[in-house]
Formats: sequence, C-alpha cells, structure tokens
Amino acid sequence: MSPSVLLGITGGIAAYKTPWLVRLLTQSDMDVRCVLTQAATQFVTPLTLATVSNNPVHYDMWANRDRPGVEHIALADEVDVAVIAPATANVIGKLAAGIADDLLTTVFTAVRCPVLICPAMNVNMFRNPIVQRNINTLRELGWNILEPAAGWLACGWVGEGRMPEPEVIAEEIRRLLTPADLAGERILVTAGPTEEPLDPVRFITNRSSGKMGVAIAQRAAMRGADVTLVAGPLKVQAPQWVTHIPVRTAQEMYDRVMERFPDVDVVIKAAAVADFRPGNSTLEKLEKSNIRPTIEVVPNPDILMTLGGLKRDDQVLVGFAAETTDVLRKGRGKLKAKNLDMLVLNDVTKPGAGFDCDTNIVRFLHRSGEEEQMDIMPKEQVADLILDRVKALRKGLVS
Ligand code: CTP
Repeated sequence: MSPSVLLGITGGIAAYKTPWLVRLLTQSDMDVRCVLTQAATQFVTPLTLATVSNNPVHYDMWANRDRPGVEHIALADEVDVAVIAPATANVIGKLAAGIADDLLTTVFTAVRCPVLICPAMNVNMFRNPIVQRNINTLRELGWNILEPAAGWLACGWVGEGRMPEPEVIAEEIRRLLTPADLAGERILVTAGPTEEPLDPVRFITNRSSGKMGVAIAQRAAMRGADVTLVAGPLKVQAPQWVTHIPVRTAQEMYDRVMERFPDVDVVIKAAAVADFRPGNSTLEKLEKSNIRPTIEVVPNPDILMTLGGLKRDDQVLVGFAAETTDVLRKGRGKLKAKNLDMLVLNDVTKPGAGFDCDTNIVRFLHRSGEEEQMDIMPKEQVADLILDRVKALRKGLVS
C-alpha cells in the first residue's frame, strides 16, 4: 500500500512551492492529503492542491459538519508521516503551546506518526528568541525540524528563513518513511573518480560518475546509519544527511580514509581510484613546446588493499571491481588478495552495467565462497541489497 503523507500548509509565501512538493511525493507513489490554514488559501488554491494530490483538500473545520465521523481525528489516524511546509511562526507557536483552534492545528495535535516541521519566515522572525524557543520545544518533544535555508527572502531581507526546496523536503519525508534498521552503524563510503594532475589545468581521470557510491551513502543514511562519504569529483549531488568529504586525488582519498578507518564499522569502496598518477606533474601550466610525447606514471597507494591489512575482526570491508575480461576469475582474486568480506563485481561491457548509468548488473562474491548473481536493477536497489548483506555480516560479527 502507498505510504500516506499528511501535508499541512500554513500562510507563508513559500506555500506557492507546495504543489510541486505534492507532485514529487505522488510521483514517489505516496498518497498525499493536504490540510491548509485559512491564511494558506490566500497563497495557494485548494483546487490546485486537490488536482495534483488527486485527493480532497481540507481547510475548513466545519465544512463536513453534516456528515458522520470526526474529520480531524480520521485525518490524523490515517497517516504514516505528517509534515508542515511552510510552517509559520504562528503555527509553530500554537503547536508548541498546545493550542488547537483550527483544522490544521487540531489535526497536528492528534497525530501519532513522525512529524516534520519546515519553518519558513523572515530572518528576524526566525531569529526571534520566542520562535527559537518554540521550535526547540517541538524538537525536544521528538518532532523533526528541517532547518530553513539561507538566501534571498521574499520580504527583501537576505538570511535564513527560506523554505528548503521541495526536492529536499521530499527526501526528508522518504527518510522518515524508511525503517532505521542501520541505526548505530558507522559506515564510510567512497565514491567517484579521482583526478591525477599533470599540471594545474590538466589531469587524468576515468568515467566514474559516483552514482553507485552516492546511492549507497544515501540509502545507508536513510536507513539510519551514520555515514561519511569520501568522494572524488561527483557528477551527481552528494546526498543529504551524510558527512561529505570531497577529495581530488587518490593520495587525498587515501589520507582521509585512513584517518577515519579506526572509527567506523563498515567501509564500502565504490570509488574508481586511479591506480597511477603522473610522476612529474608540474605547478606551472605546461607549454605545448615542452609537453613530452609520453607521460611517466607512478603507482598510487591501493587504499582497499591497505584497509584489508588493517581490518579489525568487527569491521566489514566491501570492495568493488569493474572488469571487462575474465571477470569472475579476476573478481575472486581481488576478494582474496584484498582480504574483503564481500566484493561487488560488475562486467562493464554489459549494457546497463557500470559507469555513468542509473542501473547496474552485479554479482556478490562473499568471503565464505558463496556467490549471488543479480539481475539488472536501479543503483538504489543494488545499494539496498549491498546494505542488507553488510547488516547481516555485522550482526554475525558483533553478536
Ligand atoms: N581501489 C583502491 N585503491 C586503488 C585502486 C583500487 O582502494 N588504488 C579499490 C577500488 O575502490 C575498488 C577496488 O579497489 O573497490 C577494485 O578496484 P579495481 O581498479 O578494479 O582493482 P585493482 O586492484 O586496482 O586492479 P586492476 O586495476 O589491476 O584491475
């Protein structure tokens, strides 16, 4: 059954963005019910929201008084996650004080599911200590607060108070709907290519987009893990909720990973690390006249191999291998040589597998010798399957 989202909309200018938020949620197969304050109906019409949500919109406490049932309780009972976006200073104050004097505040006083509040207002209103105290009251009661973004505000001021973009709110809602089965796990993911400079403007790199590693970091964070993403230049955005440590070269990635390795439970090395770097990169831009026809290279440290040598018994190490020939034999060799718990192997010659696409076709090679061949599937789904196996491995090690 589709998850059910209750979207409360209050009277702020950011309400004009809510039809787009509803579209994003319904596209992710969520059933969205909108509840508006009277003020919100000045900024966005119930007709628009009813059309995009494909559900009736509620804004009048007394609209259905001649029908049986208690509407505000029925609305509150039926939801999996309840969101207020935008949330004005007024509604935040009322909810913090337990005031329920219209349909929206009445419904939100009755909900028992996870709640997400997205404050949006003028920067000086947002910084007002009374508003801050009210936000903290809701936070301490276990409601989730999505901090407003900083930037240009409709009132002409610049500062914090902007409602985060609908895409950001939709991701946060998806997180709240995901069971936190990896809570307590500290997971380090590497992603993307590395860039090995020849001079200040030229470098050697590879076709990795970072999509696979980003999908793993994203799903791990959604499932409640504490995630660090050490990533080379990504072609996709780093996910919300993760500590993103951008790096450029293999040596930088090595340094950042080594610093953190003692403090993590799991490392998943999805990055396409350059095995070599130019041995004679220069600080000044090379002139055409002094570029030699050959580039001399020196080996980079093998990060995964080093981790395999340092790994504690309670740590899980997952590597990747992208091969084009003799795929299985090479994969099995890497699993052993690098002392991995699991290797995610893909044959990048297959359409729909490997670099810079949204799907992957992988085979899991386990330390135990067991092997699992997966069908073609979105990288997000591959990420979840990897994390399911990581979870089982960790359970076996720590229990
Ligand atoms: N890897 C790494 N450090 C390197 C090279 C690779 O940590 N310097 C990691 C990758 O992140 C990946 C795994 O090792 O998880 C396999 O990478 P791959 O390039 O396929 O393997 P190599 O061992 O470098 O072997 P080869 O390039 O010779 O196939």
